Amino acid sequence: MTEMIPALEMRGIGKSFAGNQVLSGVNLVAQSGEVHALVGENGAGKSTLMKILSGVHAPDAGEILIDGEKRELTRPAEAIAAGVAMIYQELSLAPHLTVAENIFLGREPLRSVGGAFDLNGLLKWIDRRELEQRAKRLLDDYGFRLNPRAIVGRLSAADRQLVEITRAIVEAKRVIVMDEPTSSLTSQEVEELFRLIRDLKARGLAIIYISHRLEELEAIANRMTILRDGIAVYTGNWGEITTDEMIRHMAGRELKEIFPPRQATVGDIRLKVTGLGRPPVFEKIDFEVRAGEVVGIAGLAGAGRTEVAEAIFGADPATEGRVELDGVRLSGNQPGDAIGRGMGLLTEDRKRTGLCLNLPLATNITLANVGALLKRATIQTKLETGAAERYIRKLNIRPPSPRALVGRLSGGNQQKSLLGRWLFADSKVFLLDEPTRGVDVAARSEIYREINELAENGAAIVMISSDLPELLGMADRILIMRRGRMVAEVLARETTQEEILRHAAVEEG
Ligand SMILES: Nc1ncnc2c1ncn2[C@@H]1O[C@H](COP(=O)(O)OP(=O)(O)OP(=O)(O)O)[C@@H](O)[C@H]1O
Ligand SMILES: [Mg+2]
Repeated sequence: MTEMIPALEMRGIGKSFAGNQVLSGVNLVAQSGEVHALVGENGAGKSTLMKILSGVHAPDAGEILIDGEKRELTRPAEAIAAGVAMIYQELSLAPHLTVAENIFLGREPLRSVGGAFDLNGLLKWIDRRELEQRAKRLLDDYGFRLNPRAIVGRLSAADRQLVEITRAIVEAKRVIVMDEPTSSLTSQEVEELFRLIRDLKARGLAIIYISHRLEELEAIANRMTILRDGIAVYTGNWGEITTDEMIRHMAGRELKEIFPPRQATVGDIRLKVTGLGRPPVFEKIDFEVRAGEVVGIAGLAGAGRTEVAEAIFGADPATEGRVELDGVRLSGNQPGDAIGRGMGLLTEDRKRTGLCLNLPLATNITLANVGALLKRATIQTKLETGAAERYIRKLNIRPPSPRALVGRLSGGNQQKSLLGRWLFADSKVFLLDEPTRGVDVAARSEIYREINELAENGAAIVMISSDLPELLGMADRILIMRRGRMVAEVLARETTQEEILRHAAVEEG
């Protein structure tokens, strides 16, 4: 029998950033037609390994073979030429260009200008109509409902992720890397993506799939490599080891339960939302959340959940209705007022509206409660560092340095920093929009523990999530939105994922 030459082989990859060893001696082999899951805790080195493959970072050691041939991938263009494409975790699109332009960036269909100017047929124009038609055909094929002419910067996180996926699939010839491709997607879109992945497998591509959602991997993975602290600690067929063993490899310890129990007593109404609306985006939103309660909001992408949260907070004001916090009406158009009165909003899109990537961790964590750091009108650095260290420890943020620039942290650690900010802000009402997006299993259970503690101390918590197991595990009640309306309310302990999806699904026609 002849040896199968793998589509991708990475051998002995090593990498350090400023003396900090991030990867050592990593081997990764992926065959044509397989989905290879790459898993590990936040900061384990998954994205760095894949950025080496896609020519973003140069390795300090090791080599890369595509179809058995050694390749130097020192720039993204070289990786693409070698048939490697990547869906980046932190999206890499050009915000001012359209959907179609982003999909075909650098590969636009051209036509000659023609006529007397263009004697040799050398002058080329981008053929816009062709560009848009091709993009539309692809999007239709993939089942993504997107307008090819829409400006990417104005799209929701989910829609941008769909554009990123489409772009990478067009580029990929041998290997496609998907770095948490579903982090912004809802279950319906995840299904579309899985259908695409099955097509890519049939076309003989090797697919490297990074995700913290184990139930997702369960559905598609053939093989798996586990990274811990930059070392590949396990490689094998999917299903060879149990979930518990997987978590032990990832975290180096046991994890008792993902959803810790909560002993909160439900008290008075803290947040009351009445007739809130900004038609046609959302309208007639009524609900209340009591002290000690965790209320989930479910819905498909585009149902208006994020918009409602932003309107409650006053970041993007509603045009109708009112919001009361502890019985007092909020101005509704000033986030400063909401923050001052004890409301915190954890935004869905950490890069765009949350973190200051060029500032240190300590500044990012303390940003919403600078008042607590003041003494004689100056910020006390010692207080700032102390506060940051407390949340770095609580949330296990890595590297555990208050001076580290947030832009250099891994995706999941950035998310934890943002959560740390709202914990430090000492709020009474928390609006958490996708709070555990991109966070590893062990850290997720830490975050759930923190949320429970907040509720036990009398906070009211609204949790928007596309991760249904998370809503079922954490919420008391779940509100379901569809097309800008609240269409149902269910008790978490009496419902199922199927029931929630049925309410959330958009009726055809
Ligand atoms: N450009 C950079 N400069 C300095 N350090 C970096 C840089 N990029 C990554 N790191 C560090 O390398 C380590 C691995 O990061 P990486 O992003 O690969 O983790 P990850 O496994 O993808 O984590 P996550 O699940 O959170 O996305 C982290 O400690 C991170 O802070
Ligand atoms: Mg990553």
